[in-house]
Amino acid sequence: MDSKTLRDIWIKFYESKGHKNIGAVSLIGDGTTGVMFNVAGMQPLMPYLLGQPHKDGKRLCNIQGCVRTIDIESVGDESHFTFFEMMGNWSLGDYFKKEKTAWTFEFLTKILGFDKDQICASVFAGDDTAPRDDETAELLLNLGIKKENIFYLPKKDNWWELEGTVGTPCGPDNEWFYPMNNNKCSEKCDITCSCGRYVEIGNDVYMQYEKTANGYKPLKNKNVDTGFGFERLLMFLNGLTDGYKIDIFKGVIKILEEASGIEYGRDEEATRAMRIIADHFRTATMLIGDINGITPSNVGAGYVLRRLMRRAIRFARKIGVNTDNLLSIVKEYIENVYGIAYPNLLEKEQYILNEVQKEIEKFNKTIEAGTKEFEKVVNGIYRKNQFMKMTNPEYIEETEISGKSAFRLFDTFGFPLEITQEMASEIGLTVDEEGFNQAYKEHQELARTTSAGIFKGGLEDDSIECTRYHTAAHLLLAGLRKMFGNSVHQKGSNITKERLRFDVSLDRKLNEEEIEQLEAFINNAIKAEIPVEKEVMPIQQALDSGALGDFSAKYGDEVSVYTIGDISKEICGGPHVSNTKELGNFKIIKQEAVSAGVRRFKAKLQ
Ligand code: ALA
Repeated sequence: MDSKTLRDIWIKFYESKGHKNIGAVSLIGDGTTGVMFNVAGMQPLMPYLLGQPHKDGKRLCNIQGCVRTIDIESVGDESHFTFFEMMGNWSLGDYFKKEKTAWTFEFLTKILGFDKDQICASVFAGDDTAPRDDETAELLLNLGIKKENIFYLPKKDNWWELEGTVGTPCGPDNEWFYPMNNNKCSEKCDITCSCGRYVEIGNDVYMQYEKTANGYKPLKNKNVDTGFGFERLLMFLNGLTDGYKIDIFKGVIKILEEASGIEYGRDEEATRAMRIIADHFRTATMLIGDINGITPSNVGAGYVLRRLMRRAIRFARKIGVNTDNLLSIVKEYIENVYGIAYPNLLEKEQYILNEVQKEIEKFNKTIEAGTKEFEKVVNGIYRKNQFMKMTNPEYIEETEISGKSAFRLFDTFGFPLEITQEMASEIGLTVDEEGFNQAYKEHQELARTTSAGIFKGGLEDDSIECTRYHTAAHLLLAGLRKMFGNSVHQKGSNITKERLRFDVSLDRKLNEEEIEQLEAFINNAIKAEIPVEKEVMPIQQALDSGALGDFSAKYGDEVSVYTIGDISKEICGGPHVSNTKELGNFKIIKQEAVSAGVRRFKAKLQ
């Protein structure tokens, strides 16, 4: 089974069940759901799972690219990727468990040819927040799955929700497993065993609850959210345990083998380097070529991209892979792997190649000097240890690179902190991260810039810890309208877990006094501990009631309206905190003009 065939059969199967293929959306968060990158197939569908009607109906399917950089350090082994695709299908308040269990069963047995006696499944065991999912278990039994192959597991295994949010859909899930082989590690070998014999093929989430500040409340719609990992299934169907051996990577690995003169799989270190390059350059290609494409930079998503590319470039140099080879890899992904499923890449091919080349050249200019500087720092530590040991045998050796040195490597040589950390750990050293952040801060103050510094933590930002900033954005708009009138409208927003960026129609700079007044208005609303209330209503009723909308957005017939006392009423997909008291202290950290008549504010919650 190759990737093209699997793509086709997934979509055809669900189309035959009345689903509409909605295609993949942007990988880059638009600021409305608070994520930097799209981390799951359901992410862009959140408003519809919460009840807004979708223009393509109630049965949807697609294959959606996702980017998760949280495990970037693990990339290099057989199974970690920073970009992957999820095969999905959804019922938005239409069919539920009966149809879904039957269709997954049919897909596995009839389309993929799995033996029903070997299929295993797990369902939610229930706890004091939500009941045990006996209904699904019963349906599975009736389909012919053996009783001993059905497992009841707790929330940590069989529940799906986006941690750290409220106002988001969630529910129990039904996971599907199949054994790789017949080699039981013991008599008790089953899906709960860590021997790796059982592979999770995919899961059906029954999104029937909305997460609130105090637990779960039933959703009006009972939804289904299915996710099957595309690469993982391809691997499994081809009897592979190494994800980099699927057809998607074939051409790229060949380029790497030819360039390095090393056969993939022969040498452990070289194989690891090849996987890092194959993975990171795939993600870079997808992010630069995305419909909302980004380029490498020193902040936000651009920094994540830079970090990925530079990490891969460092490994490329180790195995003799040069700029031309890296560009061939990008070309291979665009022309031979993803061009059909992501036509955008073909349209932007020249642009992507140019951006990749620019970043490689930029880093190549400083990498040698930077590596020498790194060695100098390390030698300094070794020399000091040697000297101190001579004078004092009890001396405890220093094993940490100072924050100042790491900052110099970043600032002068373009080494992202994480690269210095990785190089340090390769020789058993660590980096003083706090010292690095301190040096960065001092540098910023010196340069008199007030832009927010976003470093480790802030950058590993697949997280959705950002909910507070969504609510803060509503208060900010309300404050500006109160001060400058109702001609002030939202023109854009972008949220990370570190800060809020918010653009409005306003044609002048605020003076210091006005900034203070604005902050006081918002902080008073926070101190007043006002509940944030959500109602779902027809769009016309929402507009008639005076709720503000973003006129560039497309709304369905029904929308969610978030009300904060008598201060704010806005149509919004959420998520939001349940009470303004959760926001902390609000502070404007920067204002600037974006274009004629549009002002940008950056704000932080502390
Ligand atoms: N949302 C579910 C997942 O990501 C389907 O696995």
